[in-house]
Amino acid sequence: MMNDSDRPSRPLRASPTRGLTLALTLALAAMLAACSPAPPAEPPLKGARIGGPFALTDQRGKPVTDKDFAGRYRLIYFGYSFCPDVCPVDLQKLMQGLARFEKTDPERAARVAPIFITIDPARDTPVALAPFVARYHPRLIGLTGSEAAIAAAAKAFVVSYQKQEGSAPDRYLMGHTQLAFLMGPQGEPLALLPIDDASTPADEGSAELVAKDLEKWVQ
Ligand code: NI
Repeated sequence: MMNDSDRPSRPLRASPTRGLTLALTLALAAMLAACSPAPPAEPPLKGARIGGPFALTDQRGKPVTDKDFAGRYRLIYFGYSFCPDVCPVDLQKLMQGLARFEKTDPERAARVAPIFITIDPARDTPVALAPFVARYHPRLIGLTGSEAAIAAAAKAFVVSYQKQEGSAPDRYLMGHTQLAFLMGPQGEPLALLPIDDASTPADEGSAELVAKDLEKWVQ
């Protein structure tokens, strides 16, 4: 005796209409996915052990610590004002990038404190730093301090530097790590900003790329 369930079932064939509907549904889903904002990406330096407390002096001679920047993003670059080529080029890109960001989003850009920390405190006194930082951005803060305070700040930011004797005792150069850090409102590392990587022939940095990264990470 055969009942309905014993009947050999008809082979399943995809209905052309159903196939078309599925294709449309998938296309629509893809379109919706493309229109909705992408989930926020993880900052590349999230969780990295970079940064820490510092106690330095600004270009006006005022004591400054990391706590003075609580709640603000910090764009931090280590270098020295006597640097013949690298620091000026990097600072120009970084500060022009910040200026672009200020134009497109003044409110968010105001939350960024641009900071230049010297690794040559012997020559970079507050008086020497003042005209140097003013050349790049009206808000750029120049920080200096004792040899020990600078060494501690550099170490916290995994920055190394070394004196290279020049033609006269006061004409030495300083070799130094060339990195630009973007730190978050709690002083946490977020990203390295795009500046030239000296180990490659290409120039990886530009004001436009710096502005793009600031737009991406600064809330
Ligand atoms: Ni330099």
